[in-house]
Amino acid sequence: MTTKKILVLAGDCIGPEVMVQARRVLDWLNKTGAASFEFEEGLVGGASYDAHGTPLTEDTIKLAHASDAVLFGSIGGPKWDGVDYDLRPENGLLRLRKAMGLFANLRPAIVFDALAGASSLKNELVQGLDIMIVRELIGGIYFGEPRGIEELPDGGQRGYNTQAYATDEILRIAHVAFDLARKRDSRVCSVDKANVMESGVVWRDVTTTLRDESYTDVELSHMFVDNCAMQLVRTPKQFDVILTDNLFGDILSDLAAMLTGSLGMLPSASFGAVAEDGRQPGLYEPVHGSAPDIAGQNLGNPLAQILSTSMMLRYSFDMAKEADLVENAVEAVLSKNIRTGDIVADGVAAVGTTQMGDAVLEEMAALAG
Ligand code: IPM
Ligand code: MG
Repeated sequence: MTTKKILVLAGDCIGPEVMVQARRVLDWLNKTGAASFEFEEGLVGGASYDAHGTPLTEDTIKLAHASDAVLFGSIGGPKWDGVDYDLRPENGLLRLRKAMGLFANLRPAIVFDALAGASSLKNELVQGLDIMIVRELIGGIYFGEPRGIEELPDGGQRGYNTQAYATDEILRIAHVAFDLARKRDSRVCSVDKANVMESGVVWRDVTTTLRDESYTDVELSHMFVDNCAMQLVRTPKQFDVILTDNLFGDILSDLAAMLTGSLGMLPSASFGAVAEDGRQPGLYEPVHGSAPDIAGQNLGNPLAQILSTSMMLRYSFDMAKEADLVENAVEAVLSKNIRTGDIVADGVAAVGTTQMGDAVLEEMAALAG
């Protein structure tokens, strides 16, 4: 068994708390001999800013390059509200995505049967929901140049950013979406704003051509992003894979996450291109943020971090059996009505972060026999 190096970047607020529970899952796999993991730990976001004056150091980037996968927590909090824009915690994550070349972000929105009642939509609209959002992650308006804030002669300011996508950037993310669709229901809905933005016109052309040339077995539809937001709350189950750009993906993935009943449940994976030596950069993080309001009180839901860990097992380490074990354990815990505060059911007392971790480990042990 080859040893896999994992860089753990827990981040801020509830990040380190939920990460402890994810680490317990990995330690268990080490202990039972199912895996051989080695861990490095690093600071990112506000924690890195406090220690080093920057949300991401060159050393951390080096550690990321040297690792087989990065397990990421969450970053940010009101403590860093006054920090210079460039040095804000969020920038640590954006720089890391860029440095690792993580152009593809996969955000599943899945409704766990036991949690369908926690959705803000009617049960029948979300029961069985299983959408995969494929978000472009290192291009578009998040990184486009020119950008900045300029002072105006009238004493006001003008803030500006650039939305731009080139053919090759669209192609590589579209390939990811089409390939994924083939393993699912073979339907991709590509989302843009081609009625207003030239970047959307190119996006639409490139995705259509790619589909016609290489993926005739996959159904491709196009939707404007405003309509997509509306359709997601109207009939979310119409979607299989949603392919979209960086900004639209940011917005739609929060929306889709909420449909599922809890942001605290959803994992995500980000990938770069496969290198010549066969290695592919991968980073795994929960969709939820750092939840400063409940930090340090053993209240956070560790399941999204734990499910991000199972995505890492599945995608970076090809450990489908172990990933299934973790996911089945989470399902079992939910079906026993063990819930943290964010997903608590009527008449059930919420458990804390650590107790949720205990429950998952107990189920893993039971399921593994
Ligand atoms: C996300 C977050 C980030 C983003 C922030 C923290 C920079 O909202 O991962 O969705 O906008 O990409
Ligand atoms: Mg977001």
